[in-house]
Amino acid sequence: MALENLKIQGFRCLTNAELELDPARNLISGPNASGKTSLLEAVFFLSRARSFRTAYLEQLVQDGAGECVVVGRIRDVSRETSLGVRCSRSKTEARIGGEPVKSLADLAQALPVQVIDPGIHKLLEEGPARRRRFLDWGVFHMEPGFLEIWRRYQKALRQRNAALRQSGDRKTAKAWEIELVEAGNLIQEARERQIKALQPAVASCAEELLGASLELELRTGWGKDGSFQDALEKSWTRDRQYQATQVGPHRADLTIRFFGKGAKNRVSRGQQKMLASALLLGQLDVLKNALSTDQILLVDDPAAELDQAYLQRLMAAIQKRDLQLLITALGPEVTGLSGDFARFHVEQGKVSKVV
Ligand SMILES: Nc1ncnc2c1ncn2[C@@H]1O[C@H](COP(=O)(O)OP(=O)(O)O)[C@@H](O)[C@H]1O
Ligand SMILES: [Mg+2]
Repeated sequence: MALENLKIQGFRCLTNAELELDPARNLISGPNASGKTSLLEAVFFLSRARSFRTAYLEQLVQDGAGECVVVGRIRDVSRETSLGVRCSRSKTEARIGGEPVKSLADLAQALPVQVIDPGIHKLLEEGPARRRRFLDWGVFHMEPGFLEIWRRYQKALRQRNAALRQSGDRKTAKAWEIELVEAGNLIQEARERQIKALQPAVASCAEELLGASLELELRTGWGKDGSFQDALEKSWTRDRQYQATQVGPHRADLTIRFFGKGAKNRVSRGQQKMLASALLLGQLDVLKNALSTDQILLVDDPAAELDQAYLQRLMAAIQKRDLQLLITALGPEVTGLSGDFARFHVEQGKVSKVV
């Protein structure tokens, strides 16, 4: 599977762009603020109907335009499928094969996209939400029933939280706990399976990128001892005080140990970027092995924060993998990158093929 053709309209500084992409390697170069990140962001948007750099979708719509539209054609052996996402200031719509999608998650299934960008260190540095999202992304692809379970959990959690806010009555809140605990335990089990698959793959990527040992550990979100059910019981007074459920898989975290110690706040920015890339490439390897689905990797400005040695290693690791690569750089050369590329140049929001 590869993204063959990409059309972008009214997306940030890209007024109108069309690209015929190479199924393996694409290099997008251009000066600062020309629209390189926006181009990768458009591909990400086609897969996830959101952005990797902002939570505010309205920022994606070009100033003065009513909406932004990204359309892609993907090819899987001889089969072609079109994908389209449209976003105005009030709504987002997506289509696959011309039909409206039931769930935006269908896009990610059809076009799995991952990104290594200058913000990737946040995976280690920031709070647990990003790490949960990273982990759940893998589970979502590996286990088809996961999304449904996750939705069930979210619904029960919302209801229990509403009960905490409205009445603070133990009985009303408890009515939602059977569903909450059942779905919550299934989420935890699925995440445990995912960690088992990820651990060796990620460890080997960390070895490859940093010559370092890296271990993952899942924290449940309700402490080490006892069941989720018991933790809910114990947390009641606190839950009532905060008017929100304080324990559960929505509070889970992924601990990352680097040379046996917690990586957070210990390693340099460059190492954070390399460690986070090891997590991401490890996950790509797991998904590739398990599902044999092809994946797209977006790499934005890889040289940022990395010295030549790290950059060499990262580029070597990326190029070794069988994936569709879209990479940006200021100039036509990137340390460690070699071989043939489809080359594109971006200048003031205009994309052209370099021939
Ligand atoms: N909604 C928008 N409408 C118009 N221009 C935008 C919008 N959002 C961002 N831009 C502009 O797009 C330009 C290119 O951004 P970016 O893709 O990050 O460039 P690059 O990655 O090449 O440095 C910036 O100058 C920015 O001001
Ligand atoms: Mg950029």
